[in-house]
Amino acid sequence: MTSDKTILRTLAGETLPTPPIWMMRQAGRYLPEYKATRAQAGDFLSLCYNPELAAEVTLQPIRRYGFDAAILFADILLVPQALGADLWFVTGEGPRLSTITTADQVAALKPVDAIHDTLNPIYETVKILATELPSETTLIGFAGAPWTVATYMIAGKGTPNQGPAHALKAENRPVFEALLDRITEATISYLSMQIEAGAEVVKLFDSWAGSLQDSDFMDYSIKPMAQISAALKTKYPHIPVIAFPRGAGKRYVGAHAAIGADCVAVDDAVDAKWVSQNVQTGGCVQGNLKSTHMVTGGDALVSETRRIVDALENGPHIFNLGHGITPDADPANVQLMIDTVRGG
Ligand code: CP3
Repeated sequence: MTSDKTILRTLAGETLPTPPIWMMRQAGRYLPEYKATRAQAGDFLSLCYNPELAAEVTLQPIRRYGFDAAILFADILLVPQALGADLWFVTGEGPRLSTITTADQVAALKPVDAIHDTLNPIYETVKILATELPSETTLIGFAGAPWTVATYMIAGKGTPNQGPAHALKAENRPVFEALLDRITEATISYLSMQIEAGAEVVKLFDSWAGSLQDSDFMDYSIKPMAQISAALKTKYPHIPVIAFPRGAGKRYVGAHAAIGADCVAVDDAVDAKWVSQNVQTGGCVQGNLKSTHMVTGGDALVSETRRIVDALENGPHIFNLGHGITPDADPANVQLMIDTVRGG
């Protein structure tokens, strides 16, 4: 099936003269229109669960910049909440959750079928977007990868080195693995529902993959993502999967095949030329401009953008940042980045 959507063509393996573009956290606090809609919703979680407003903030960066893909506005921590964890956001500090560290607590999580009671508004958002997006824009659904989601569920918050999750893994591996299995199963169901509602691509964010060492990296980052990809491919063979094992370093080599991913997103710690020779050989890559250029702009933004586009021009490439854009970014720098990619 051919498509006129550049993201879908690139994910299918085509090398386009100009790479398609989208940006992690493209709907976010650097945009005044996002802040206005979030204020209207009340708070971040109310925004996530309000289909009309969540669709509105998803569309804002498409209207302003004409990105080639829209990413569903939601959060990776909605799955823990749907499984029964308490979740709230502390302004200026980030997410807080009730912690899970015992076999009883894992057993007390809701059954996977029950998560949709909570997550239904997210599927409604996807349905609205599927009808409202411009015909050339691809809709990306997403979820957190099991390891990253587990790090938040175990610690009850973001942690610099994921210490509590590593501690549980060392002290009580069966409980740790039972938690990972439950998240994996929930994620398959959640992404299936997003696809049924109209998501055309799904992305798995393993933001903390880099802290897994030796065989743990394969067992707890790669394998759960491979399980999710395989389950989705069985049901929806035409839906491309993007995987983002952030911080994988040299372990990005072979990641497409190990995960069963159509595209591997690379962070900004790896060099684009190295990626072209060692990772893009396995399939489409996405990345990897440092998000700080969206704050500082100028000649460095232009030259770095060109360097990445040139380095990855001989294979399928979706231009993106190496991580999410930050609230202190200047919206004009985003336009400069897009003009540089599209204008040469
Ligand atoms: O990319 C997008 O535009 C789509 C929406 C999206 C959000 N979070 C919205 C959001 C996506 C794909 C995510 C993923 C996410 N959420 C990840 C994985 C990617 C990554 O950044 O590593 C993680 C680890 C989370 C958990 C999370 N959500 C944290 C740690 C925080 C607080 C940090 C912060 O930036 O404030 C959030 C909040 C969050 N998620 C915001 C947005 C726009 C900011 C909330 C606000 O408006 O106050």
